[in-house]
Amino acid sequence: MRTIKVELGEGAREDRSYDIVVDRGLLDRIGGAMRDMGFSGRCTLITNPTVGALYSGRVLESLKAGGLQPVVIEVPDGEEYKTLAEVSKVYDRLIEERMERGSAIVALGGGVVGDMAGFVAATFLRGVPFIQVPTTLLAQVDSSVGGKTGVNHPLGKNLIGAFYQPRAVFIDPDVLETLEERELKAGLAEVIKYGVIWDEAFFSFLEENSKALAGRGGDEIVTAIERSCSIKAEVVSRDERESGLRCILNFGHTFGHAIEALTGYTRFKHGEAVSVGMVMAAALSVSLGLTPERTMLRIRDLLVDMGLPVEAPGIDGQDLVETMRLDKKVRAGAIRFVLVEEIGSVVVREVEEERIKASFALLSACSGG
Ligand SMILES: NC(=O)c1ccc[n+]([C@@H]2O[C@H](COP(=O)([O-])OP(=O)(O)OC[C@H]3O[C@@H](n4cnc5c(N)ncnc54)[C@H](O)[C@@H]3O)[C@@H](O)[C@H]2O)c1
Repeated sequence: MRTIKVELGEGAREDRSYDIVVDRGLLDRIGGAMRDMGFSGRCTLITNPTVGALYSGRVLESLKAGGLQPVVIEVPDGEEYKTLAEVSKVYDRLIEERMERGSAIVALGGGVVGDMAGFVAATFLRGVPFIQVPTTLLAQVDSSVGGKTGVNHPLGKNLIGAFYQPRAVFIDPDVLETLEERELKAGLAEVIKYGVIWDEAFFSFLEENSKALAGRGGDEIVTAIERSCSIKAEVVSRDERESGLRCILNFGHTFGHAIEALTGYTRFKHGEAVSVGMVMAAALSVSLGLTPERTMLRIRDLLVDMGLPVEAPGIDGQDLVETMRLDKKVRAGAIRFVLVEEIGSVVVREVEEERIKASFALLSACSGG
């Protein structure tokens, strides 16, 4: 078992630090862990029908064995249901069940369930305790850690939300066995991102073990989850509200979000779009003279080894730039990017549109196009 601490809050009075626990078979011990944290009485397990059918039975047993009295609320499976309308139905159920301020909400599922349940926990009765039990690789290494919660708005993704930290994150790597291969790989894109932005040794580990990881690995996947969580924990501890350092977690995401938007959020999974976006960000870094071409090739080769896409054929460069300009993270017309200097080290820069377009030529040269 490995425990990673997310250090948050100044001094003992405002200590919002919490543990991320990673262990095989942990699903069966969540109730005991919550009892040890001081939880008792009623709680709500929020999941969806897919994950619920696979795992809610075990989690419910464990919660009961820990002395808790759980109620299950299911939200529909799918990004299209990450809405205020669905959240509102959850509030209705919580009120009907007469849940109170001390009644914890436990999120069992991928990033969609975690983001929605977290937003419910942040807002119901002005905030109730929140526990994350992430079940996709993306949720285990990214969305469950760091306190970003929220839902989509018809005009854009994740536009409604709150920073609200969980009290604990319980990660059972064994649940990845039932995850679809494409979902696993989409999570691996975020794992690779941590190597690029923070830790060259970790990146080398991923290179050496790419085949095992893409085949969902044995202990390699557990190491990858642990290291990814510790890097995210470190970044979030230093900059909880994304006023500076935390934005490096968006490496590949400015391009990635635009690719997702231009393809109607259907052709690429988020992690796949980020995979293409990381190669584009690396090409931009090369074309600005920040890093040699071999850095970009190393990133691209690892993504290819993991079975991830590294190009988005059919997307027009001009459309991509225009879509990035509309992104909510673009300030005063200038497009900001996280760019790589070397594996393990990135910088944030504003880049003129002409320079971005110039970098596309480098990409097509590398792909032989
Ligand atoms: N809060 C954050 O910091 C943050 C960060 C990144 C992404 N996100 C959000 O995360 C969401 C994407 O999350 P995701 O990629 O986990 O997608 P998801 O939650 O839609 O899960 C993908 C699919 O896998 C299924 N599933 C989940 N666990 C499973 C398991 N163990 N076995 C079999 N099937 C399983 C789900 O039911 C779903 O059909 C997006 O809404 C995105 O905005 C949030």
